[in-house]
Amino acid sequence: MTNYFPENFLWGGATAANQVEGGWNKGGKGLSVSDVYTFDPTLPQRNWTDQWHMMTHAQVEEAQNTNSKKLYPKRYGVDFYHRYKEDIALFAEMGFKTYRMSIAWTRIFPKGDELEPNEEGLNFYDRVFDECLKYGIEPLVSLSHYEMPLYLVTEYGGWANRKVIDFYVNFAKTVLERYKSKVKYWIPFNEINCVKHHPYVSVGIIEENHPNIEQAKYQGAHHQFVASALTTKLCHEIIPKAKVGCMISYQLLVPYSCNPDDVQKTVENQRTSLFFTDVLSRGTYPFYAQRMFEEKGVHLKIEDGDLELIHENTVDFISFSYYMSSAISAHPENLEGAEGNLITGGIKNPYLESSKWGWQIDPKGLRIALNQLYDRYQKPLFVAENGLGAEDIIEDGKIHDSYRIEYLEKHLKQINEALHDGVDVFGYTAWGCIDIISASTNQISKRYGFIYVDVDDLGNGTYNRVKKDSFEWYQHIIKTNGENLTS
Ligand code: BG6
Repeated sequence: MTNYFPENFLWGGATAANQVEGGWNKGGKGLSVSDVYTFDPTLPQRNWTDQWHMMTHAQVEEAQNTNSKKLYPKRYGVDFYHRYKEDIALFAEMGFKTYRMSIAWTRIFPKGDELEPNEEGLNFYDRVFDECLKYGIEPLVSLSHYEMPLYLVTEYGGWANRKVIDFYVNFAKTVLERYKSKVKYWIPFNEINCVKHHPYVSVGIIEENHPNIEQAKYQGAHHQFVASALTTKLCHEIIPKAKVGCMISYQLLVPYSCNPDDVQKTVENQRTSLFFTDVLSRGTYPFYAQRMFEEKGVHLKIEDGDLELIHENTVDFISFSYYMSSAISAHPENLEGAEGNLITGGIKNPYLESSKWGWQIDPKGLRIALNQLYDRYQKPLFVAENGLGAEDIIEDGKIHDSYRIEYLEKHLKQINEALHDGVDVFGYTAWGCIDIISASTNQISKRYGFIYVDVDDLGNGTYNRVKKDSFEWYQHIIKTNGENLTS
């Protein structure tokens, strides 16, 4: 098969501040929503992911108590805060053209509502970007990746409160101006559609406060749309050459059967994600929103000028995470559910294998997803996350992660197919290019990296970095611009 990867394809890897940095109380940083997640190996896995879907006041209060004996893994990450030079050197050794990362809002505005930024935090990212640029690595930056200031949740009620738009835009303006000569690619919100699954970490909403949670979620989403449009506008003014992208989690949904009820249900469910790209890329609330809101009992408060702003400031590209697909049935009661902890209501697909965490592996689904998104928007696409969370075993100082190579190779081959189909894909960042703390389970043993970090789920270890077999494999892929994927 021919190689269709364009010469300037942005190969790289991705992480998020709250999952790698650590240094939670260093450099004036404030507590973020992610600093509240605990890990307790004595509890069942279901319990770890329950926090991800729903946070309680009691948990938030306990996290603010300095005497809490609980383990908060995202406060320590993998110590990128102190080891970024070593890590970026390893990314450069693999040949990364880009590094997708996020700026922790709480390093710049520790509580979120300050007027002036924290210079120490700004300085940290200056050093990180300089280190990337030293190797010719283009930083691609998410402004908000599940790490809004906790103070904005406890004092303001999160994004349900319109005031949060101003705080976010102040943060965005500060970093756009500061890094205008260093960063060209910006993503205002990571997985903006995930508010429907986990409103606490996405929009800072604690369910107990809201009798109609759907109302709060979509009001929060509307405020994020406005904030995203304002950021896009500002970015284009401050850095005329910059590109702004939206970002969704795209879990491909397929009908469990050819029963028309399953097909209809699949279309409806897929739209609950596409709704977000529809607004941000097409610039209008889609026609089906009215019925969707009616059925959820949602009445949005939209202020004068909001819709014009959204219409006039659409994104330049569309990025998404892709890990799995899921089968949808209108009558799931007697069917076996897919176990993956981010899957809501999906049915086990008998044609697919699953990861240890129940995520159904579907490389061909990535080609379908790319085609669907390009059909719908005709804007350049960026695969911002993709990877396999797996347990790695270290033997004689080596990690033979052939399963990860196989997963990534199969997905990259499908990107090549999509490029052949004519889809405009301009980059790919493998998720968790260095081992990180899992977003949904708070474990590090759910590893994604090309680089192993010697630490366990309880935080014990040297934090030393070790190259896995996949490190050299990916280095070769980048060096040959995907040539060896075609055999
Ligand atoms: C995406 C998130 O949903 O999936 C990442 O943007 C996350 O932050 C990734 O880490 C993988 O999920 P998990 O739960 O395995 O870490």
